[in-house]
Amino acid sequence: MPSVSDVTRARACAKIILLGEHAVVYGRPAIAVPVSDRRVHVDVTDAPLGSGVEIEACDLDSCYSLGVPCVDEHGPFIQAVVEGALREVCGTKEWPDLVITVRSRIPIARGMGSGAAVSAAITRAIADHLGFTLPCERLSQLVFDTECLLHGTPSGIDNTVVAFEMPVWFRQGEGAETFDVGTAFDLLIGDTGIPSRTGEAVAMVHRRWERSPKATSGLFDGIAATVRSARGAIAEGDLQTLGMLMDRNQAYLQTLGVSSAALDDLVAAARGAGALGAKLSGGGLGGCMIALADSERVQSICEALYGAGAEQVLETRVGATGKLSGSGIAGP
Ligand code: PMV
Repeated sequence: MPSVSDVTRARACAKIILLGEHAVVYGRPAIAVPVSDRRVHVDVTDAPLGSGVEIEACDLDSCYSLGVPCVDEHGPFIQAVVEGALREVCGTKEWPDLVITVRSRIPIARGMGSGAAVSAAITRAIADHLGFTLPCERLSQLVFDTECLLHGTPSGIDNTVVAFEMPVWFRQGEGAETFDVGTAFDLLIGDTGIPSRTGEAVAMVHRRWERSPKATSGLFDGIAATVRSARGAIAEGDLQTLGMLMDRNQAYLQTLGVSSAALDDLVAAARGAGALGAKLSGGGLGGCMIALADSERVQSICEALYGAGAEQVLETRVGATGKLSGSGIAGP
């Protein structure tokens, strides 16, 4: 059993997209925030010489070895993340023998960035364990590379929020910046309990865009205008306007066809219980929705979400801002 001092620990947070999903894939801006109390934790220890690299995915009840093909849903992704991190740190030289243990409190496939967080935490832990300094920009790029395995054509927003752990204003090709928050605000995250099918939703939107490029680009422009106004409302602390803009964004997403009956039910329940605004978050077709709640209504909105079938309801506060910087926000 390794002593605690032999263990290198790292972690990474969940994220939610506040506004702008899907349109962000087509070069429009989006806003996303970290969810700091939901995390993936990774431990790395040295293993006996010649034993290779073993990965224990505790929540999946699975164990993977590098170089041993696995057929389950998650194994190839996790193996690719570990290989990418080792290639970054050690090049193509012989890789060290390691045991990597992954524990996650982020629901899988709910639009909360669980894949990006697993990738970021594993990469950070391996780099730290081997004494390698990994700037946030580079971590973000490595996480992006592994996200491509999951979603094909990710916009880059998930890896950016998770690597920098900052509220992010994101536009493809322009990198990310953070934004001002005039008044901290509370969001409730309602989980439908149904996996979000991001790849399928992105492909569906793409087919729509190919069929009707002008009309679909018009929807993306409408979303972009909503996101820009929301940035201003957040900076001014104008939560009424922010809520209205979230509702407007949800209407665009419904028109794009990426909401679902379960998401619509939770959105309606949150609004009925006094949410200032509510919308799906992430890829859609399942997964999570978010509701903007003023503090006196948090409890009643939470109850309404459970009453409408939410599997779980999480709460997060958006407030802290700072500068995105290369030296980055410490991982662990
Ligand atoms: O479902 P998530 O959390 O991976 O979010 C997907 C967001 C999209 O805009 C639909 C796709 C993307 O890559 O930005």
